[in-house]
Amino acid sequence: MYVELAVAVVLGAVLIFVFLKKKQVILRTEDGWWGVSTPIESPADDSIRPFHLEVKQEEIEDLHRRIDQTRPLPALEDSKFSYGFNSNYLQKVVSYWRNEFDWKRQVDKINRYPHFKTKIEGIDVHYVHVKPKNLPEGARGVPLMMVHGWPGSFYEFYGIIPFLTEPSNPDDIAFEVICPSIPGYGFSEAPHKKGFDSVCAARVFHKLMKRLGFSQFYAQGGDWGWLISTNMAQLEPKIVKGLHVNFAPLDKPNLTVTLSMLLGRYFPNLFGFTEHDVKQLFPCMQKLVVNGLKETGYMHIQATKPDTAGRGLNDSPVGLAAYILEKFSTWTDPEFTKLEDGGLERKFSLDDLLTNVMIYWTSGSIISSMRFYKENFGQGLNQPHSKIPVVVPAALAIFPNEVMHTPELWAKQKYRDLVSYTLMARGGHFAAMEEPELLAQDIQRFAKIVENRK
Ligand SMILES: *[C@@H]1O[C@H](CO)[C@@H](O)[C@H](O)[C@H]1NC(C)=O
Repeated sequence: MYVELAVAVVLGAVLIFVFLKKKQVILRTEDGWWGVSTPIESPADDSIRPFHLEVKQEEIEDLHRRIDQTRPLPALEDSKFSYGFNSNYLQKVVSYWRNEFDWKRQVDKINRYPHFKTKIEGIDVHYVHVKPKNLPEGARGVPLMMVHGWPGSFYEFYGIIPFLTEPSNPDDIAFEVICPSIPGYGFSEAPHKKGFDSVCAARVFHKLMKRLGFSQFYAQGGDWGWLISTNMAQLEPKIVKGLHVNFAPLDKPNLTVTLSMLLGRYFPNLFGFTEHDVKQLFPCMQKLVVNGLKETGYMHIQATKPDTAGRGLNDSPVGLAAYILEKFSTWTDPEFTKLEDGGLERKFSLDDLLTNVMIYWTSGSIISSMRFYKENFGQGLNQPHSKIPVVVPAALAIFPNEVMHTPELWAKQKYRDLVSYTLMARGGHFAAMEEPELLAQDIQRFAKIVENRK
């Protein structure tokens, strides 16, 4: 009798909890101000200014001088990439950077697409804006905002932009692509005040899209771009037509999802887990814990004391390259830690990798980019956005080498209208850069489903 009563009470509590939770579907936020001065001192400036990246000779000379002054150190014998970026291979990368890398040519490539800056909440926000070329008179592309993460930049999207703006199939949607730099990253100004987190970035990007005259648009992202674009959908679900993400770690497991974590390996069918899910989710406990610790040290540093380690990286181009490019090895394929050269050039060219490093170096943004971890994790894991579901049509592209696997059941807890869940053929964390065509196809397929619903 008492047992039944207890069960009833627990069930009742769960139902009330679920009911109360379902009522809140909009994420709320208040305007911020991140400039040096106070808003009263500087009048609102809504102007949009073209931005053209320039090569400064003294910048190149300074870079070369600093590279020439580094103190190379031999890597441990046979350590490959398991102690971090292999120091012997780093010498090769640095020597390429010093002697062959052509920054002028890369800057011309960066300037191939139109860039702009505009002031929002007191800071300059930089973005790339690419319109489709071959549209009939008066027609506009379907707007799509793509948000990068750490340690990436708008440049991650340079390979995918042509697939989206100039699709070869005439039935495909021609997108008008907007790639902003997260404030504190690349050519967006860093916030001068504490507290600029993913929700603030989402609000700032909504303001940007409004300023550009879009009443509705699609949003896409991986890494921090996943959270920022998800927050955008939570802030203004009527404006975000569809949300496509290629990363979606679970934030707040509900009861079913918690049970699936505990029992999923024994009853996979009960939770709709595929063999792939089981293999990805349930390695032995030791492996799970050890791998988790091995690969998240950077996160702990950046979420607690970003400014300390950041100063070294801000002064040393070689240190910066090692710190950033190590992630382009391990997050592309965890097996790459077993290679002398981290497999870096298997998926990327040194030109593209070093261009991304140069975006951090020339803008001096490594410290402010690291601070974004502190601003997001510093408030604990119980933030309002983690409790609010996403109600806009959503799609998740699962790349096999992504650092965290998300089964469909877990994705559905957060993304209530999950229109598409695709297991991608190949690729890892930097999907847009690594597999631009595959990612573009998945975005295309998803947007067509959403457009046809109307
Ligand atoms: C938890 O989320 C899953 C996936 O969306 C859903 O099917 C299930 O009903 C949810 N469970 C509870 C108790 O809310």
